[in-house]
Amino acid sequence: MSSFYLTTPIYYVNDKPHIGHAYTTILGDVVTRYHRAMGEDVWFLTGTDEHGQKVQKAAAEHNMTPIEQCDTTVVRFQELWKKLGIKNDDFIRTTEERHKEIVRKVLQDLYDRDLIYKAEYQGHYCVPCERFFTDKDLVDGNLCPDCHRPTNEIVESNYFFRMSRYQEWLIDYIKTHPDFILPAYRANETLGFLKKPLEDLCISRPKSRLSWGIELPFDKEYVCYVWFDALINYISAIGYGKDPANFEKYWKNVHHLIGKDILTTHTVYWPTMLKAIGLEPPQTILAHGWWLIGKDKMSKSRGNVVNPMDMAEKYGVDAFRYFLLSEMSLGQDASFSEEAFVARYNSDLANDLGNMLSRAVKLTIRYFDGKIPAPGILEMVDKQLYGQVAEAVDAMEKSVRELRLDRGIEQVIGAVRAANRYMEQTAPWTLAKKGEMERLGTVLYVASETLRIVAGLLQPVMPEKMALLLKTLGVSGEFSFEDLRNAGGLVPGQRISDIDALFPRIQLESPELPKAEKKTEQKKAAEDSSKAAVPEGVAISIDDFAKVQLKTAKILAVDKVEGTEKLLRLQLEVGSEKRQIVSGIAKFYKPEELVGKIIVIIANLKPAKIRGVESCGMLLAAGTGDRLSLVTVDQPDFPSGVPIG
Ligand code: ME8
Ligand code: MG
Repeated sequence: MSSFYLTTPIYYVNDKPHIGHAYTTILGDVVTRYHRAMGEDVWFLTGTDEHGQKVQKAAAEHNMTPIEQCDTTVVRFQELWKKLGIKNDDFIRTTEERHKEIVRKVLQDLYDRDLIYKAEYQGHYCVPCERFFTDKDLVDGNLCPDCHRPTNEIVESNYFFRMSRYQEWLIDYIKTHPDFILPAYRANETLGFLKKPLEDLCISRPKSRLSWGIELPFDKEYVCYVWFDALINYISAIGYGKDPANFEKYWKNVHHLIGKDILTTHTVYWPTMLKAIGLEPPQTILAHGWWLIGKDKMSKSRGNVVNPMDMAEKYGVDAFRYFLLSEMSLGQDASFSEEAFVARYNSDLANDLGNMLSRAVKLTIRYFDGKIPAPGILEMVDKQLYGQVAEAVDAMEKSVRELRLDRGIEQVIGAVRAANRYMEQTAPWTLAKKGEMERLGTVLYVASETLRIVAGLLQPVMPEKMALLLKTLGVSGEFSFEDLRNAGGLVPGQRISDIDALFPRIQLESPELPKAEKKTEQKKAAEDSSKAAVPEGVAISIDDFAKVQLKTAKILAVDKVEGTEKLLRLQLEVGSEKRQIVSGIAKFYKPEELVGKIIVIIANLKPAKIRGVESCGMLLAAGTGDRLSLVTVDQPDFPSGVPIG
């Protein structure tokens, strides 16, 4: 059985986890669930980085000892991983003896082989930043490049790892192993860094300056530099130096997931450390991009830190996992907002997947007494849908191997959209009316089988929801890619169960009209009553036209208003505002065709309830009775909320 070993960074315990940490860990969880489904011997490691300046400082701020700080904060991580359904095989803390022992062993080994040496170090120390700088780092002679305050010159003895020795080897290794650093442009970034001469790495801190760390085995006055300690977790956790069989099994196929912030430590320090102790570099180091909040960096001082625990509690764990994985295009930065979350949830999960399931289930219950019908001869449309589903299986497998999950997920949701179109094309409700029961049976079989495969494909992303979907279809158990490759897995006659919405629609809080607009509204009403009504057909003045506020709006999500044939409910973005409009265009547009369009709305129309559903404004469309065309702008990426006049 081939092995697959995956790691996340070990996170600092100076503060509680946020969505950035949640993202890397969920990504790791999903990737390893897929590899388990491929029948591999998987080991998934995460943990916490507990030594060093950051943690010591946080402890002091909280009036705790460093280990108390670690013990309190580590629980926040462990509880979050439990909540988020993370199935890690191990959790390593760098304060554990099993780790410290191996760090000391590596240090001693390198020291004995003269790969670590002591030297005098002259540098400039910035007390507030607690960092060392060299002459060339400083700005304006003596100022800290970060905070621009004066630095102190310090001469200190420290221990150094002979990293410079491995520069040529590393450059060559990166160039000859295109999958070593992913995405490829991150490899170029590392190669760029390696253009300058690589210096030896200072791996010690005198205890007088920092006491919270692993003591050097050959000098009691020093502790180990936190990065040198932390990186070793990847080997200490799987038995390096203790359990060679286990270590070798996993080390030969190891993949590190990291954020782009820690690229240099992982692609320069770590491979050279491994080389020095005679180990192979990892197979891949995948650096993903940054989660931004809107356009900003997440930071405590901005007060925009998103708590993953809150998101999971408010919207459900699986929906949160789905959003993070599908929204970030691997490698690039992504922007987090609750609006984007709700829009994607409503469109992909509530409309596409949830809707498809309730259609298949309701029709099977109504016409086949809740039992999966036996399929008859497949027609072209049936085969086409199966074809698209089979492509999604291949795409998902490929995207797992390439660590590009977002692409695979996109293809699977594409197949779900195709399935909804298939329902419209084959119109099972019409087949039922005409009494074509055999054909109806085939259509519902194909629809349910498509759902079975899609649910299997998405199970690693949304384990609980997809298990529920499968249970509804009368299927249980975990799937392998092989099970999903052949359509026809559902057994005719199998009883299915009824289900309420699998993903109930999330209602965006429907906005009040903004204040300024309300005023206009009242003024308008007052003016209207003081003036005679303009007779029909009489020209209006520019002032009259100015009362009507036309604006561009972007369609974020659309669904049908239940119990009606004509009405669609549209969720719109109008600049920074969100609103909902109900419109009678269901005969002319399918919900999925509308999402993303930039349309024109009357923004200051009095809100009204249409069939009990709130509608805030009106959209513009030209209609002849049997044709209808929405008024849109001619540039697809045009912003929303822009006044028209
Ligand atoms: O760097 N967007 O720990 P750390 C995406 N202890 N990912 C983010 C993120 C964001 N805004 N913020 C954090 C450390 N991350 C070291 C690692 S490994 C031997 C030692 C994720 O707590 C991302 O994976 O600062 C990033 O690399 C990691 O958290 C940094 O976590
Ligand atoms: Mg960090």
